[in-house]
Amino acid sequence: MNQLNDLDYGTPASESNQTVILEIDGAPVEVPAGTSVMRAAAIAGVNVPKLCATDSLEPFGSCRLCLVEIEGRRGYPASCTTPCEPGMRVRTQSPKLAELRRGTMELYISDHPLDCLTCPTNGNCELQDMAGVVGLREVRYGYEGKNHFDAAKDESNPYFTYDPSKCIVCNRCVRACEETQGTFALTISGRGFESRVTAGQAESFMESECVSCGACVQACPTATLTEKTVIMMGQAEHSVVTTCAYCGVGCSFKAEMKGNEVVRMVPNKDGHANHGHSCVKGRFAWGYATHKDRITKPMIRSRITDPWREVSWEEALSYAAGEFRRIQARHGKDSIGGITSSRCTNEETYLVQKLVRAAFGNNNVDTCARVCHSPTGYGLKQTLGESAGTQSFDSVMKADVIMVIGANPASAHPVFASQMKRRLRQGARLIVVDPRATEMVKSPHAAATHHLKLLPGTNVAIINALAHVVLNEGLHDAGYVADRCDTKSFEDWKNFVLRPENSPEATASITGVPAAELRAAARLYATAGNGAIYYGLGVTEHAQGSTMVMGIANLAMVTGNVGREGVGVNPLRGQNNVQGSCDMGSFPHELPGYRHISDTTVRSEFEGAWNVTLSPEPGLRIPNMFDAALEGSFMGLYCEGEDIVQSDPNTQHVTAALSAMECIVVQDIFLNETAKYAHVFLPGSSFLEKDGTFTNAERRISRVRKVMPPLGGKSDWEVTVALAEALGYPMPYSHPSEIMDEIARLTPTFHGVSYDKLDRLGSLQWPCNDEAPEGTPTMHIDRFVRGKGRFIITQFFASPEKVTPRYPLILTTGRILSQYNVGAQTRRTDNNLWHAEDRLEIHPQDAEERGIADDHWVGIESRAGQTVLRATVTDKVQPGVVYTTFHFPESGANVITTDSSDWATNCPEYKVTAVQVMPVTQPSQWQQQYSEFNERQLRLAAAAEERHVLVSK
Ligand code: SF4
Ligand code: SF4
Ligand code: SF4
Ligand code: FES
Repeated sequence: MNQLNDLDYGTPASESNQTVILEIDGAPVEVPAGTSVMRAAAIAGVNVPKLCATDSLEPFGSCRLCLVEIEGRRGYPASCTTPCEPGMRVRTQSPKLAELRRGTMELYISDHPLDCLTCPTNGNCELQDMAGVVGLREVRYGYEGKNHFDAAKDESNPYFTYDPSKCIVCNRCVRACEETQGTFALTISGRGFESRVTAGQAESFMESECVSCGACVQACPTATLTEKTVIMMGQAEHSVVTTCAYCGVGCSFKAEMKGNEVVRMVPNKDGHANHGHSCVKGRFAWGYATHKDRITKPMIRSRITDPWREVSWEEALSYAAGEFRRIQARHGKDSIGGITSSRCTNEETYLVQKLVRAAFGNNNVDTCARVCHSPTGYGLKQTLGESAGTQSFDSVMKADVIMVIGANPASAHPVFASQMKRRLRQGARLIVVDPRATEMVKSPHAAATHHLKLLPGTNVAIINALAHVVLNEGLHDAGYVADRCDTKSFEDWKNFVLRPENSPEATASITGVPAAELRAAARLYATAGNGAIYYGLGVTEHAQGSTMVMGIANLAMVTGNVGREGVGVNPLRGQNNVQGSCDMGSFPHELPGYRHISDTTVRSEFEGAWNVTLSPEPGLRIPNMFDAALEGSFMGLYCEGEDIVQSDPNTQHVTAALSAMECIVVQDIFLNETAKYAHVFLPGSSFLEKDGTFTNAERRISRVRKVMPPLGGKSDWEVTVALAEALGYPMPYSHPSEIMDEIARLTPTFHGVSYDKLDRLGSLQWPCNDEAPEGTPTMHIDRFVRGKGRFIITQFFASPEKVTPRYPLILTTGRILSQYNVGAQTRRTDNNLWHAEDRLEIHPQDAEERGIADDHWVGIESRAGQTVLRATVTDKVQPGVVYTTFHFPESGANVITTDSSDWATNCPEYKVTAVQVMPVTQPSQWQQQYSEFNERQLRLAAAAEERHVLVSK
């Protein structure tokens, strides 16, 4: 439990190494140079009254409440804007100061509705606090003068209200939107008495540029900007620190609670990944956890055409175990397997792979990272020696040039995007490599110096051309390469890269990027000082995904950009625990800590700990499971937290494979698309209902803490333990901390991790062991994990997905800020108000050729299938390229994606599908079939619920 409010030091900490000593109210205090008098006072335990200052924002000096007296200075300087000086003698209390502060407060209060008792922030309002602190007893100006009491509220945002009658025009919200979020959606319009906060061009919040991050709400000292849940439920009673269940930034939050109910999620100031910032998903979109669609009773059925039957946990688990054993007896030991999810905790994924290896007796376990970042694991291991990003998020604040490849952090990693934009506003330069003009290319006060708008599928040609310029123009760091890298591999790679076919001039016709632009970008990155690369699924989800990851590592090494702050190779992981699910041994060929299953020494360690004999043969990957199901040799699946029907490519192939299986066990919080093909449904628990850990994109392990009991009666880890028990393989854990202790014992990079240490330090970045007891923010500092960095030749091959007269456009896919992955969570929140359907973005030229206008229904046909979406005509995409998101099952985005995949890891090539687009008037055949199937399945599930109600009556 934590207290609700953190101490606010008034102004941000200074990062200076020098200190100054001064005296505040007679007591000496030593602070870093550049610290404000207000902050120094707070450090000395003296809280100077304040309204416009808060320690997450630069001081503004507008409210005049924080006045102090400084010996030898005239007047009464504002302590928030006055830096400390050596020997300064400050007085924070005097009769004159008290009089001045009371006078200021009188002015504020005379234009403030005095409805404290019925105000939603009663008890948590800084204006109220300050009135008390300055000892306000009367308001000489009366309340009858001109005021704003009748100003109309803006209720347009689904999550917070703007009530201008309560605004004291302190500007904190405006500064939060600028400094913290980087959106610049708010201004103070009007002057003097007329001045008011306005969103955009005097629009409502919803009509403005506002992205609903909540930073302004967080910064507002009054009830002007208030969460609607607080207005509805009142102030919280206690709070628990936990970690966001959405993206790979892994923001830390305080879940503010009333009993077992969440009142609001407040970004944690001490969160090491987010430093008190948030995005609309983590901050506001948590209502899905108690949505009426939650399934909280175990269910079974023999065939997917049967109605579901609600049963006890015992019956469901014994049915599942019985089916798995029956299938193995009939089809062999290898005929069943499991799939883990990056939405689950480390402890849960560890247990699922343990269950598969120890209780199923094979290695048929895979994870959804297969379809997103498996090439990262492979490519970084080959070149640098560790399957993970090299930096902390904070490292970006030391970068001079930032290259973003195939990623749109503004949509998919919003809190990190805000940090990156802050660095750009400080002067760092940006190179974006992306087929689309993403929000990163141009945002307020931060634009890319170069946007290499390549054709989808040509990443490797681009990275080779960038490296070609670096070597050809002698811009590489020869000393770094000689000291840190493998000479032979460097020479081989150099000879390859310098071939004329890799020059920007030769590749321009393939990539569509003009040679001069590419050369300029290469020079900028190589001569940056600190050059940092961030990349996403636009790199990995390609037939050459692993090649491109290695190409990025090559470029970073040759320019000496790995092994210190401000540089590095940084995969932006899509989901909250992609890194963790990979670390935990979810791949069929690897035990936890990325150790190959064929390694006898490693295997015997696990055999000893788990008391079983393990198979040395790698198991099936997800696509192999589907193929084997269609061949009749893979008949049973345990799928925890993952919706393979919606998220995996070539939906028809996936559903055919699932329909061929004899027993599918789905553990989830909702009846997701995969569950509609299942025979056993085990109710899952949301992140609010369980203990565990997530590992974010910077290898940061953070605690997930239970704030309410699981709605289905069991946390997810308990369900896996119970299934193992039913299979005759006991896993006697009494708390997830014991699972982490086992992980730590068996995994060298986790040897030093424990819940106690996490509680003490807040979070830990692995490797965390005897050499690095408090974790490792930056990797490969003196040497690469593999010893010498290895350059790998990255020959470009055109994607097998070729455009033809029949399929002349390239479809690429991505995400949007308000929705998350398959949308199962965010679709069940008001985030739908921003994005209620997947749309097809098409360039005006391609649209006109086809007679397509905005909002028209269009058919999109690939070699795999056809679907229908509405069109958005935009020049964000280039001619020849169309784009969509994949958040809604009925869109069937993956009906059109194909089986083409990465050569090394089978990561699907979601980013390149050759398609034709045409105007249509009705849904595709697949959509019509989906609609019927979906309705039937929902009826079969509803029948179980109705029967349950009847029986309990
Ligand atoms: S919610 Fe965020 S984006 Fe919207 S106005 Fe507030 S700070 Fe700006
Ligand atoms: S809305 Fe809140 S933060 Fe913004 S100016 Fe008004 S009182 Fe200050
Ligand atoms: S979705 Fe990502 S950026 Fe947004 S609050 Fe959650 S972890 Fe942070
Ligand atoms: S807090 Fe210093 S002027 Fe407002």
